[in-house]
Amino acid sequence: MDCLVLQGGRPLSGSVEVSGAKNAALPLMAATLLAPGEHVITRVPRLADTQTMVRVLEALGAKIHWDATTMRIDTSTCSSVEAPYDLVKTMRASVYVLGPLLARFGRARVSLPGGCAWGPRPVDLHLKSMEALGATIEIDEGYIVATAPPAVGATQGSSLRGTRFTFPISSVGATGNLLMAAVLARGISVVENAAIEPEITQLAEYLVVMGANIEGIGTTRLEIEGVDTLSPARVEVIPDRIEAATYLVGGAITLGDVTITRCQPGHLAASLGALEAMGSKITINGLAITLQSGGRPRAADIATAVYPGFATDMQAQMMALAAIADGVSVITDTIYHDRFSHAPELARMGADIRVVDNVATVHGRTRLKGAPVMATDLRASAALVLAGLAAEGETVVSRIYHLDRGYENLAAKLATLGARVERRPE
Ligand code: EPU
Repeated sequence: MDCLVLQGGRPLSGSVEVSGAKNAALPLMAATLLAPGEHVITRVPRLADTQTMVRVLEALGAKIHWDATTMRIDTSTCSSVEAPYDLVKTMRASVYVLGPLLARFGRARVSLPGGCAWGPRPVDLHLKSMEALGATIEIDEGYIVATAPPAVGATQGSSLRGTRFTFPISSVGATGNLLMAAVLARGISVVENAAIEPEITQLAEYLVVMGANIEGIGTTRLEIEGVDTLSPARVEVIPDRIEAATYLVGGAITLGDVTITRCQPGHLAASLGALEAMGSKITINGLAITLQSGGRPRAADIATAVYPGFATDMQAQMMALAAIADGVSVITDTIYHDRFSHAPELARMGADIRVVDNVATVHGRTRLKGAPVMATDLRASAALVLAGLAAEGETVVSRIYHLDRGYENLAAKLATLGARVERRPE
């Protein structure tokens, strides 16, 4: 296992290119199951999670060639409908194969993901939406067994039928699964309170290129008219808005000057707004964003929300920034109430953070001090790296396999920006 060793206190400066978005690539890869044949997905980030999805698809029988960032997925050879525990337990997003398998084969057997580092994270909405489409769901030995058998004599397809479904709370993953099942269901589905995160919008657009009928893309009301078959297609993964914003925070927290390129500035509006509120100067130039620090950041209050609100996936990183800000910041996570494992680790570096329920109160300190730290999830680990970049002395972030799940070439990209960073065995 590797750790990341950072010598902090040096302003980041320069330019770094954003990778394709993990959370867009994963559902796109799952969607290839819907149409037998060869799909081409470009700008796929090389991450532990995309590698896990490769293994899930291979377990289902797909043939995959992944050359640099171009992935060719041939799903004509798929025959298994089982996503095994060993893979699903390492990545919850494996549950994205549920909808496509059910729609294509009328059957799916997908391990239940179980809990996660910051709480229970249920999949009840995924299951309810499949039931609404007419599937029968059972839990058998830790597996979700979903069935909607095709007509007698047919080897493919399902008995799924259009439905009206209103999500009681917005769910990125459950919206994705429902979309992927409904595109091959018989008749019309109307989905209310659908997630509108850019990653889901891209999934819907990809399904349309494959031949699906979907109205209302990009809004919370989707109308889907099922089709009999879909065709393989080609898609470029959208840029990773969370990776992009993380590097911008790197600029702000080190009082530096950072440009990110090949990003989609419109997807980052909430993060940019928060960074500006904390004193950074933001300049957008086409697909590039430059952050110039305005000196020590100012405190700000932040509350996470569904898109286009402030992303929960940026909450930890902004807490690292708040830890050195002038004043008191109040940071509330309304999406995941327990997502604060970074707070006690930041405190080990000198941060003053008090968490009560889902609200963290951060009294900014003028400096942080390097320390050995570790986190139990991806974004918490990113927050510790950011704090380490700003801190005096050496910070060792261990368990960096969490970072490998979501940040492509993190150490190399940080080094490009002038960080003193080294990846070494623990
Ligand atoms: N929820 C339920 N039941 C469900 C599904 C969700 O109660 O069946 C709740 C969750 O517990 C949470 C809320 O609904 O309170 C929203 O969860 P959502 O389903 O939107 O999350 P997700 O699809 O499991 C994706 C991202 C996460 C990101 C969240 C929120 C992927 C692969 N994962 O998860 O990304 O935090 O949306 O935006 O897209 C990350 O990249 O670090 C990460 C965790």
